[in-house]
Amino acid sequence: MTVTNALSHADLMDRTYRHQRLIYDITRRYYLLGRDRLLRDLAPPPGARVLEIACGTGRNLARVKALYPGCELFGLDISEEMLRSARTKLGSQARLVQADATDFDANALFGTDGFDRVVLSYSLSMIPDWQRALRLAAAQVRPGGALHVVDFGQQDGLPPWFRSLLNTWLARFHVTPRTGLEAQLRELADQQNGTLRFEHLYRSYAQLGILTRSN
Ligand SMILES: C[S@@+](CC[C@H](N)C(=O)[O-])C[C@H]1O[C@@H](n2cnc3c(N)ncnc32)[C@H](O)[C@@H]1O
Repeated sequence: MTVTNALSHADLMDRTYRHQRLIYDITRRYYLLGRDRLLRDLAPPPGARVLEIACGTGRNLARVKALYPGCELFGLDISEEMLRSARTKLGSQARLVQADATDFDANALFGTDGFDRVVLSYSLSMIPDWQRALRLAAAQVRPGGALHVVDFGQQDGLPPWFRSLLNTWLARFHVTPRTGLEAQLRELADQQNGTLRFEHLYRSYAQLGILTRSN
């Protein structure tokens, strides 16, 4: 039986991050590329509600607060270990709850009827049923709002030896780049009568999508 089968996904994430969370922000700045670009693109309207699904240590939400001080911040994550770091960092600046990105009710968790901006940053690659998480994330966006996604890309612009090393290393952290991300986002954009901006960054090391809902 593999570790994934023996443990629930929440347990697996807690186990993965119990110690890593303490060095997470310092180490991940060198390889979770494109997160600051996502935050610059976010540009929420004044007073906007911003939800990060799988918010981890709260690194992105803290930056949203610094860049766009008037926003209301919300975060959820399946790992209580990661949320411990997020709570320490954000205090009362954000409402943070433990929840599964593939099965949550934002109204019950936060008492809200949607968000102006929803963020998925380097999380779909760790969520087994990532398509379901993506659909649920898109459903949280208010008309006129946007879903912003950044994650590992297909890496087809990178040398084969580097891709092989990278994927071996990512697998140790239960990370699988989602090659179908662009197609899934496009399908959702069509369903919502919205628009999609999609980019491959750093020779496809990362991929970034913005799905904007029509009003
Ligand atoms: C690589 S970290 C990214 C954290 C943060 N979004 C960032 O950009 O720094 C992945 C996060 O996804 C969370 N996660 C994995 N599966 C999840 C799920 N099914 N529901 C909610 N969070 C999940 C993990 O606990 C972890 O905090």
